Amino acid sequence: MTVAAPVRDALGAAVDALAAAGCETPRLDAELLIADALGVDRGALIADPSLPVPGAAARVIGERVRRRIAREPVAYILGRKGFRRIELAVDSRVLIPRPETELLVEVALALPQGARVHDVGTGSGAVALALRDERPDLRVTASDASAAAVDVARANAARLGLELEVECVSGLPGGEYDLVVANLPYVADGELGSLEPEIARWEPRVALLAGPDGLDAIRALVGAAPAGMRLALEHAPHQGAAVRELLDEAETLADLAGHERVTAGTAR
Ligand SMILES: C[S@@+](CC[C@H](N)C(=O)[O-])C[C@H]1O[C@@H](n2cnc3c(N)ncnc32)[C@H](O)[C@@H]1O
Repeated sequence: MTVAAPVRDALGAAVDALAAAGCETPRLDAELLIADALGVDRGALIADPSLPVPGAAARVIGERVRRRIAREPVAYILGRKGFRRIELAVDSRVLIPRPETELLVEVALALPQGARVHDVGTGSGAVALALRDERPDLRVTASDASAAAVDVARANAARLGLELEVECVSGLPGGEYDLVVANLPYVADGELGSLEPEIARWEPRVALLAGPDGLDAIRALVGAAPAGMRLALEHAPHQGAAVRELLDEAETLADLAGHERVTAGTAR
């Protein structure tokens, strides 16, 4: 009879392998992957390093560590990512929602009762579904140019029991909106090679790249918006001034790291 190895051994081996592969947070990643494989939370691994790892779990852990060594993001390996109060199913068809995108949700939360919000480039549905969850009174719709992303967003809406109409459209679908929120791609084409492998190798190009200066998608959206329409746009920190130039009454919000991240204003 084989004796199950303790989790401290699995953890030690995984941390070493992930560190050698260049992962930035090898211990955290290993704990998340192993705790999930064992069906416990991270605290349990730390509280009881002698916890046995049965053979089946050891095989799952081995496979997950191999995926992580190839720099696949933890969120894709686990198939989920938390965003505000909801958990979204994610895979390589959609961008992994980032904490800084919560700023877009915060802008929309200030809207009056019953306002109409449209989320362009919804991806996993993160922004639109967080709004449906936190402000059921708002009339929220969403769209994405990627049919694969639309499938993911619709599946997330169904799984979370949140009603959301998601259209497959490039740019701004026709309609009347009190606010359009968008986290469109904003990486310059030439910058792809300088991104972390987790992003460059695994996240969809359509979610990342937007022309020579990274502003093609944002410019097209603003250009298509009728005069007077309010927009809140996520962008890279160095793009704040360029995005303000595109809008009237533009105001930029900083993320938790103090970087200019979301500009809200009115289309001309
Ligand atoms: C940076 S990701 C953001 C996804 C999601 N909003 C989030 O914050 O997690 C950009 C999304 O915009 C979509 N997209 C790219 N170009 C677009 C366009 N011209 N019109 C609509 N959606 C577009 C991509 O398919 C992708 O899902």
